[in-house]
Amino acid sequence: MSLPIQRAADRYRAAGRFAHGFARGKLSGDPAYATVAEHLPSQGTLLDVGCGEGYLLSLARAVKPALELVGMDHDERRVALAQAALGGEPRVELLVGDLRSLDLPPADMITCLDVLHYMPPHEQDAVLARLVAVLAPGGTLLVRDGESEAGLRSTLLRLSEQLAVAVGRHRGDGVFFRPAQALRQALEVLGLAVEVAPCRDGTPFANLLFVARKPTEAPSP
Ligand SMILES: C[S@@+](CC[C@H](N)C(=O)[O-])C[C@H]1O[C@@H](n2cnc3c(N)ncnc32)[C@H](O)[C@@H]1O
Repeated sequence: MSLPIQRAADRYRAAGRFAHGFARGKLSGDPAYATVAEHLPSQGTLLDVGCGEGYLLSLARAVKPALELVGMDHDERRVALAQAALGGEPRVELLVGDLRSLDLPPADMITCLDVLHYMPPHEQDAVLARLVAVLAPGGTLLVRDGESEAGLRSTLLRLSEQLAVAVGRHRGDGVFFRPAQALRQALEVLGLAVEVAPCRDGTPFANLLFVARKPTEAPSP
């Protein structure tokens, strides 16, 4: 385990042995966190939507200490854990609310990791438009989510997420994974330049990372 990952996980020690162990497992076992950390700017505001327990924010604080951090999630229990880990830190704000309606602050980078698939495609598109609206010109939106057309990997991901919703670990009416091309197009129609790469090493799941950059100036009509 790298030192930043260990420092990020150790913030959860005070929340108990289970919370600490879970944070260690997630931060070291899921490639999303370390991969996204490589994209983080040194300064400005990072907005992490659907931040859950705040694992990415905790890692961001470890690797880019000058960043302003804003996390939001509609699950108050998860935000409470994020608050316990990060609440005493300067330049950290944690909000409880629904991504589809909460006022979002402006940000230089926005991350949305494993969140979109809890809502149907038309709501995913509306959320992406809301995110792009608050993203600074020249800023980057990072979306990690599963694709629906990667065979067994897609099936395993769908089943595991359906189970998580069924047992109440996640709220929602179902799970809505899309073909990679559909998500790419949803970002491109918003004017973003998009790169897509697998983000699933060490897992059996069909996850992708979409790196979507907003132009520095609006395209001429
Ligand atoms: C699989 S977890 C991922 C958490 C975090 N992004 C991470 O990667 O560690 C999905 C998160 O999205 C949140 N979420 C789902 N739908 C949401 C919505 N409409 N508004 C706000 N948060 C939402 C859930 O509460 C949950 O914390």
